[in-house]
Amino acid sequence: MIIAPSLLAANFGQLAKDTARASKSGADWLHLDIMDGHFVPNISFGPAVVKALRPATKLFFDVHLMCSRPDILLEPFAQAGADQIIVHLELGEQVTPLLWKIRKLGKKVGLSLNPPTSIGLVQPFLDQLDHLLVMTVNPGFGGQEFIYETLPKIQQANAWRRERNLAYTIGVDGGVNLKTAAECARAGADVFVSGTTLFAAHSLKRAVSKMRKVVLASDPALADLRV
Ligand code: DX5
Ligand code: ZN
Repeated sequence: MIIAPSLLAANFGQLAKDTARASKSGADWLHLDIMDGHFVPNISFGPAVVKALRPATKLFFDVHLMCSRPDILLEPFAQAGADQIIVHLELGEQVTPLLWKIRKLGKKVGLSLNPPTSIGLVQPFLDQLDHLLVMTVNPGFGGQEFIYETLPKIQQANAWRRERNLAYTIGVDGGVNLKTAAECARAGADVFVSGTTLFAAHSLKRAVSKMRKVVLASDPALADLRV
């Protein structure tokens, strides 16, 4: 099980401080949302910021590219210290060369799909992936409501993983709180990206350990325990 706080929900005036806080929270990965103002209607930060944050932590940098032209961004993010780079399935014929290039750069390979995109479309790529990220909100902004219609996609991705004896991790991203994390765990997810829930908590450390607990139990009933 991997808990990945999303830096999008941190205080942008003190990103290095919040990165260090995440580092000490017991989290496994730091999720970095890169938005280009074109693939999604918002802009976050770029490789220079990721590079500046790299010395602040040893956490695994999970770089989620919500960008129309990731081909020009893979090298800069690889050099900035990404450990894994995720691109979007909606990019169509760009996807195959992008996955190859991420692998060639020596980084873990991730693929993500938006809520309206059919899970069937990931099938041809499954054996090339380290990570499949199921978007559980329409990407662009933190703090949105979890979309329950995405749960069957997690179940399907988990079934394929078992049937084909593949080893990719299955992540969920968007609206992941203590309750929805437990529901995603039941469906087969093992990477839990969470922004608002974790960073808004009084103690990030307590929030991370509580999320770990509900995921371990896979029991949404535990979710009303306070963070
Ligand atoms: C959504 C981003 C998410 C976002 C999740 O566009 O990809 O990673 O930070 O934030 P919360 O947990 O607040 O929904
Ligand atoms: Zn994300």
